[in-house]
Amino acid sequence: MLDFTFKNTTDVRFGNDHIDAELHDVLSHYGQNVLLVYGGHSIKKSGLYERVLNLISDLNVTELAGIEPNPKIDSIRQGQKLAKDSQVDVILAVGGGSVIDAAKVIGSAAFYDGDPWELVVDSAKRYEIDQLPVVDILTLSATGSEMNFGAVISNPDIPLKKGTGGPNSPAVSFLDPTLTYTVPARQTAAGASDIFSHLCEQYFDNNASNDISRNMIEGLMRTVIYWAPIAVKEPENYDARANLMWVATMALNGIVGLGTINSWTVHPLEHELSAHYDITHGIGLAILTPRWMEFALNTNTKPLFARFARAVWDQYGYDDMELAENSIRRTHDWLKSLNHEMTLPDVGITDDSKFEEMAKAAVVDGKLSTDAYVPVTEKDAIRIYKDSM
Ligand code: NZQ
Ligand code: ZN
Repeated sequence: MLDFTFKNTTDVRFGNDHIDAELHDVLSHYGQNVLLVYGGHSIKKSGLYERVLNLISDLNVTELAGIEPNPKIDSIRQGQKLAKDSQVDVILAVGGGSVIDAAKVIGSAAFYDGDPWELVVDSAKRYEIDQLPVVDILTLSATGSEMNFGAVISNPDIPLKKGTGGPNSPAVSFLDPTLTYTVPARQTAAGASDIFSHLCEQYFDNNASNDISRNMIEGLMRTVIYWAPIAVKEPENYDARANLMWVATMALNGIVGLGTINSWTVHPLEHELSAHYDITHGIGLAILTPRWMEFALNTNTKPLFARFARAVWDQYGYDDMELAENSIRRTHDWLKSLNHEMTLPDVGITDDSKFEEMAKAAVVDGKLSTDAYVPVTEKDAIRIYKDSM
């Protein structure tokens, strides 16, 4: 097994009893000036917005509303200004991954005098400066942003969607599964596909010696495979929502990725789709994942795909290639059963005119031709996009 270091200080408060009892004290521990960051209308519609404001009515709250899915750099610029003008002590992010990601970068931008896009393109700068503590109330199970160091920000002018790392994961994360009861079926499905993709990206890796990670990932995959369809059909099933929430966090809080050696493949390919067409991240991944698997299956990767078939999809037999092919079919059929779009035309991408440009950017940004589990050239990336039509 390879050497690693692991430190994650996020204080997780899981369940539906924590927010009312603890939110106020958690925030005031950092100070009186709070920047409340949220997305569109969902938290107002569900009553969460009013509930949160009531709990912290004696604190100085500045609001930044309107963080969009695939959060845009302009929101970060607004947040930077508000955080500085109001001398914010702590950021409260209420929402899904987009809101939490935006909060993390605003937390760094509050200590930066230049344009925050510079922090996104050069993450190293974020480690040289401070970061405001981020407290979040998660409302959607998907990204793992609630317990990791990542954030993904879009700049529509270029257009570019870029992942960035930072010095801190959220200080405190309130994970209340009941807050996800209102997530629509399509968004629940997209979140589940995102979780599954995070697990695939870390599972399909050439470091074969970390058997602990492999076994944990298989258990997490089985969890999302089992509970996601239930959450889609029964939005108020507590156990389905709770298992989905915790598996999302566990899939990308760093633990199961320890000791992996390859860069991710499907995420860089998807980030190009979101950057150019602003589609839902999880749906882009669901479309690309089976097509990437078909590309990636070869004689070298066959044993791992066969293990995936046996351990995750309960397939039995002696012919590894048959098992491997079966696992790809099962993956496709499970993603499809979640009832979201499964081809690029389904999400409105009907011509291939941008594929060359997207392939080029994905290969460079994701180091796909050198560092991926199965190297992907520009030509290969174009093929994966075309196979997704
Ligand atoms: O904006 P509102 O009105 O809140 O509606 C949101 C949004 O339209 C809605 N929603 C959230 N909670 C809800 C709800 N609707 C009803 N009830 C609720 N309880 O869902 C929509 C999508 O929200 P968003 O935050 O965009 O979704 P998600 O959590 O999937 O985040 C996606 C973003 O995270 C990035 C993605 O690229 C994308 O930009 N990622 C972040 C990662 C990380 N930080 O580690 C890793 C991921 O791979 C991913 O790239
Ligand atoms: Zn993702």
